Amino acid sequence: MRDLIVYFSLEGNTEYVAQKIREKLNARVRCLKPVKAYSTKGFAKFFWGGKSAVMAEKPELESYDIDLGEVDRIIFGFPVWASSFAPPLRTFIEDNREALSGKRFAAYACQAGSGAEKALTKLSKCLNETAFEQTAIFIDPKAKPSEETELQIEAFINALKEE
Ligand SMILES: Cc1cc2nc3c(=O)[nH]c(=O)nc-3n(C[C@H](O)[C@H](O)[C@H](O)COP(=O)(O)O)c2cc1C
Repeated sequence: MRDLIVYFSLEGNTEYVAQKIREKLNARVRCLKPVKAYSTKGFAKFFWGGKSAVMAEKPELESYDIDLGEVDRIIFGFPVWASSFAPPLRTFIEDNREALSGKRFAAYACQAGSGAEKALTKLSKCLNETAFEQTAIFIDPKAKPSEETELQIEAFINALKEE
């Protein structure tokens, strides 16, 4: 099984989980980076990021080197923004629609409070209603570390191993 983790992370929480999965699953990882970076500061962070998510924007991405032909399963990782998935994933999916058809998918969401279930449903719709083999939701795993979250991450990785 060749796994690829495709994620976007504004403040490191989604990235934290991606690195853990990479280590334990021996997966490859690609981080999506918008050409015009989202603000990480105060009001602007929530305003521009929230607007981008609500408007279902497709921000232009810096070029990435991914050969999807060599991949069996893609594990998407994203922060929840306004109860949706962060927009860079939409760009990636739209740009690679053909190459993604027939692939297997899993996904995890990082959030501060709520909205991840809706966000995962929206991501599945964006992938033509394809069901995820596994999903997981983590509460700010890096910013608010806890033993419970670590166990949840471990359980997600174990479930990915069993598929
Ligand atoms: C623009 C924006 C919108 C957000 N919307 C939500 C939300 O709807 N629900 C929620 O629980 N957290 C929300 N958050 C918090 C992040 O989802 C959460 O802190 C996540 O762990 C950040 O992941 P990252 O560090 O990989 O960017 C939002 C954060 C930003 C910047």
